[in-house]
Amino acid sequence: CGIVGYIGHPSASREHDALEVLMEGLRRLEYRGYDSAGVAVVADGELHHRKKAGKLANLAAELEERPVPSAQVGIGHTRWATHGGPTDLNAHPHTADEGRLAIIHNGIIENYAELREELLAKGVEFRSETDTEVAAHLLADVYRTDGEQDLTRSLQLASRRLEGAFTILAVHVDHPDRVVASRRNSPLVVGVGDGENFLGSDVSGFIDFTKEAIELEQDQVVTITADSIEITDFQGEAAEGKAFTVDWDASAAEKGGFETFMEKEIHDQPQAVQDTLLGRTDASGALVLDELRIDPEELTQVTKIIVLACGTSAYAGTVAKYAIEHWCRIPVEVELSHEFRYRDPIIDEGTLVVSISQSGETMDTLMAVRYAKEQGARTLSICNTNGSTIPRESDAVLYTHAGPEIAVASTKAFLAQITAAYLLGLYLAQLNKKLFSGQIKDILADLGEIPGKIREILDGAEDVKELARSMADATSVLFLGRNLGFPVAMEGALKLKELAYIHAEGFAAGELKHGPIALIDDGQPVFVVMPSPMDRHSLHAKVVSNIQEVRARGARTFVVAERGDQAVRRHAEVVFEVPETQPVLMPLLTTVPLQIFALELASAKGYDVDQPRNLAKSVTVE
Ligand code: G6P
Repeated sequence: CGIVGYIGHPSASREHDALEVLMEGLRRLEYRGYDSAGVAVVADGELHHRKKAGKLANLAAELEERPVPSAQVGIGHTRWATHGGPTDLNAHPHTADEGRLAIIHNGIIENYAELREELLAKGVEFRSETDTEVAAHLLADVYRTDGEQDLTRSLQLASRRLEGAFTILAVHVDHPDRVVASRRNSPLVVGVGDGENFLGSDVSGFIDFTKEAIELEQDQVVTITADSIEITDFQGEAAEGKAFTVDWDASAAEKGGFETFMEKEIHDQPQAVQDTLLGRTDASGALVLDELRIDPEELTQVTKIIVLACGTSAYAGTVAKYAIEHWCRIPVEVELSHEFRYRDPIIDEGTLVVSISQSGETMDTLMAVRYAKEQGARTLSICNTNGSTIPRESDAVLYTHAGPEIAVASTKAFLAQITAAYLLGLYLAQLNKKLFSGQIKDILADLGEIPGKIREILDGAEDVKELARSMADATSVLFLGRNLGFPVAMEGALKLKELAYIHAEGFAAGELKHGPIALIDDGQPVFVVMPSPMDRHSLHAKVVSNIQEVRARGARTFVVAERGDQAVRRHAEVVFEVPETQPVLMPLLTTVPLQIFALELASAKGYDVDQPRNLAKSVTVE
């Protein structure tokens, strides 16, 4: 998750020792969250590497006990586990070529299983369960067989064979004067020094040493020596990165230049959705959720699903219900974990309990999962934290790849949970033959376009921000939605409560007339999440009527609608557009303006959006 690389002059006055630079960089990158850390340096014709599960202090203690020699070249990594749990062995760097080559890696290599088979057939022995080790051995294999002894060229060749997302840094004892690195769908920045150069997953990796930086573009390889920086594409053609000067201080750099983690994480969402989708299909385009660790045969026996979660994760659960019932025709109940546990729920061998938790440590959800297991249910965990308690205690796990979420209120984990829920629904539909493979591919293709569409919303959010700033004095805001817009409305209200401490409520729009409409008074702000005009139940017209009903009673209406939705325009005070997608996938888009609204309004009030009062990120008491 955090990456640093360093190269200095062997002959210089040794102002900087590689290890010091790496440890300082890793400390700066700690904010990203991680569960293990490691470094490798090349000195005196040998590679030395140390790695440890847990915090940097563990690595520092290991280095104290087993020091590495002073060096001018090295790489360092903090890992947030994706493939393989957070153990010493799975930590980076990974070595190959008889301990002469070391690499560190961020991202997910989609075709690692295939490459692993290929390398196994060549007699390579693997020590860890990670996709990174596969990349290390692939690079070593290319280096050996290519015969050119050119590390840069080898990394270009190896990168062409890798699918998915990666930032890779490599050092080799044959080339103690350089660090080579490669990137696709995952960030990498060069820090430009004087007689020394740096690499980082973001500028915080080297902010203490230089403010001059070059951001690498898609599919580029860079070779840094103490005096040179050479960039090429994967074919070896010369290329250029984007040079810039860092004008933030170190604390802003930690947030990728954003003012708060909340803002950064909202902007991380395209990546979070993309990474959660990565590596889930085979060469034929069929879904393979092999990390599930549950026999597909067993999954075809499922007659009922119960989704358990709390807070924001529970709203992802409602999206899961709508999608899974729609695609798979399996009944799905969604329940708050703490309610489920104490009401004699009906569970049998046909029941699959799906828990959704960002942290994997929420006590309410953990207790509910344990209870469900005792009652004989199969349990599956959708979780963002590899190796945490809930996935460990569940029969199966489907990890979201949102990366560590630091802000207390959840944003990117929510969109990643919804994405994972879709994958689960499509997988069950595939196993039970409820959708044709062509239909599944179409939905996956539309999902693949979601990250770009979220980016469009983020880029065009000025009007939602402006509205938020003008509403800093609001005392109550209502959110209406129907069908898949309902959980989005609930989440919009929750974000506003959590961040801005404003009374907010979400309603199913159809319920309005059964009570909540009594709340509508002159000037009452109401957000409305519009269903797609393509919705097969013609809910669109019904929600337009709801808008008319509240407007007639004096409400101010702010509507989140699809770009092509002309019909709603004349009924709303303001329309926030989102790009078009199929109706089931809309929550991945319609949520975003509501998150931005809550963030901006809370910031306008001067509140700490990363750590709202009274809330905890992970609630480990019942
Ligand atoms: C806490 C957090 C919420 C989160 C909920 C569930 O209340 O403040 O943001 O949605 O826990 O957390 P989980 O880690 O289980 O998803």
